[in-house]
Amino acid sequence: MPLALTLPNSAGVCMLLLVSNLLLWEHVASKPTGSVSTGDLYDRVVGQSHTTYNLAADLYYEFDVKYFKSSWYKTRMPSLCHTASIHTPESREEVHEIKTEDLLKTMINISHAWEEPLKHLVSAVPTLPGASDKMLKIANAVKDKIHVLLAGMKTILSRSHKEVEKDAYPVWSGLADLQSSDEDTHLFAFYTLVRCLRRDTHKTDAFLKVLRCREIFNNECF
Ligand SMILES: *[C@@H]1O[C@H](CO)[C@@H](O)[C@H](O)[C@H]1NC(C)=O
Repeated sequence: MPLALTLPNSAGVCMLLLVSNLLLWEHVASKPTGSVSTGDLYDRVVGQSHTTYNLAADLYYEFDVKYFKSSWYKTRMPSLCHTASIHTPESREEVHEIKTEDLLKTMINISHAWEEPLKHLVSAVPTLPGASDKMLKIANAVKDKIHVLLAGMKTILSRSHKEVEKDAYPVWSGLADLQSSDEDTHLFAFYTLVRCLRRDTHKTDAFLKVLRCREIFNNECF
């Protein structure tokens, strides 16, 4: 049966083409400096921050539907997010006064501060009672996206010849609670993480859109 013999072959060729296209794209995507305009860089990071926020919102939603307990309102104080010490503009005026570099540095700070807790979040998903594959996929995707986003923001910052200072990032100290054998403590720690993640990715997305508008469209966007 010649057909049976050629089919897997052409499927193999297709696969090869697909893989080499992917590699080509990765090569292009990993070579942003120099050849890519700052406008394109902003388009890229805004696309990434938008996706990151959507994923974080999905993660929050999935958790909320399955595990949220209204008793927490009475029994537990809402925890501060570990990134609360990083000041971000709170009004329109404040956003317009802050320099682009400083706002970029703030968002880089926030995203860095999420790298460690996100690793633990991903490992904690399977420990949830009746954990879903979907949640694990979303958590992994957020972790990967934030990493890519961070690289993009650093590239933009380096265009203005500003280095990212080798400074400390706020440390997350919720690991003991996240791994607690007390189910309520464990779930509440998880809740705090997904709530803060949604908040921070939302801020990052909003501020990047402001910066893109400022730097590329001279503040004239809708
Ligand atoms: C990040 O923010 C914290 C809290 O404001 C600050 O102490 C730290 O220096 C910042 N790190 C960077 C790299 O800006």
